[in-house]
Amino acid sequence: MTSASTNGIAINGTEVFDLLRDDLAAIEREFGRDTVSGVMAITEIGEYLRAGGGKRIRPALLLLSSKLFNYDGRGAVKLGAVVEIIHTATLVHDDIIDEAKTRRGRPAANTQWGNSKCVLAGDWLYMQAFKVAVQERNFRILDALIELTQQMVEGELLQMEKLGKLISLAEHFDLIYRKTACLFSVCMRMGAILAGATAEQEEQVGRYGRDLGMAFQIVDDVLDLTASEEILGKPVASDLREGKVTMAVIHALERCAADERQMIKMVVKDRAFNGVTHADILRILSCYGSLDAANALAAQYADSARKAICTFPDSEIKRALLWAPEFVVAREK
Ligand code: IPE
Ligand code: IPE
Ligand code: MG
Ligand code: MG
Repeated sequence: MTSASTNGIAINGTEVFDLLRDDLAAIEREFGRDTVSGVMAITEIGEYLRAGGGKRIRPALLLLSSKLFNYDGRGAVKLGAVVEIIHTATLVHDDIIDEAKTRRGRPAANTQWGNSKCVLAGDWLYMQAFKVAVQERNFRILDALIELTQQMVEGELLQMEKLGKLISLAEHFDLIYRKTACLFSVCMRMGAILAGATAEQEEQVGRYGRDLGMAFQIVDDVLDLTASEEILGKPVASDLREGKVTMAVIHALERCAADERQMIKMVVKDRAFNGVTHADILRILSCYGSLDAANALAAQYADSARKAICTFPDSEIKRALLWAPEFVVAREK
């Protein structure tokens, strides 16, 4: 287990989980209550998705942020469920778009209920998340959530337009900000808003969330190339098969020989490994140190996240927030 320390005091993953255990359990119950509909298919899909588990990293961040500013109300549990429901809705839609067959080690919802029902269940989940969020009667929170949802949808759309194309690193970073880092940032900011933190404090934790989210997606993209489906619980090498080039591939493209570039281009254009294997691509990536470069950039973002909160006084919660970037870069799934 990794640990993070400030002033020499360390905290590990188990201790972070212990800190949040009761609230995370309350969020599970809230999620369960929030996803009940008079229409059976929606309740069933909602329950299937909730029961599939997941790391719950977004609600954990929201809880930690609210606790960093000594928030003590019920809103963090409610909004924790809201961000997890929004995340779940994006995954349902993402798996339809990507035609993914597995998620969290189980058949993806679209394989069980079909695309049409899952699109609608995803829409319902988005609206339900907003219905719960409205209960806070806080326009700043609604503003953040609406802006976020549009960013995420725009991110998926932009990504779709770029499928099969060799995009630049700048375009890629814009995509991963919208797809992932924006939600991490909003989780942190909503914790601060709930607690009545200052604009500057909200900005600091927002930056922490953004940089942590960037690290998270860069690692997700590396794992897509290097991990096994058994550990990851979702398909591997799927980005290339979907025509998506990610950090390590872009890094190699900027350096490799013409014939190697051609090999990568072929996979991305065909959206299949025809004649060029996954192992061929990995060989090219390791030849140019591209996986290491992606991991190094993730580590840099993780470091930048830690720096964003360095001026807060030492506390157990701050130490938990300093631990999270280590977890994100060292994770295997
Ligand atoms: C998956 O997110 C989607 C990405 C942003 C890469 P997670 O890796 O947090 O998924 P779960 O919730 O733990 O399954
Ligand atoms: C994250 O990107 C997608 C969303 C934010 C919905 P990916 O497409 O890489 O997510 P996975 O790998 O399918 O979980
Ligand atoms: Mg996907
Ligand atoms: Mg992925």
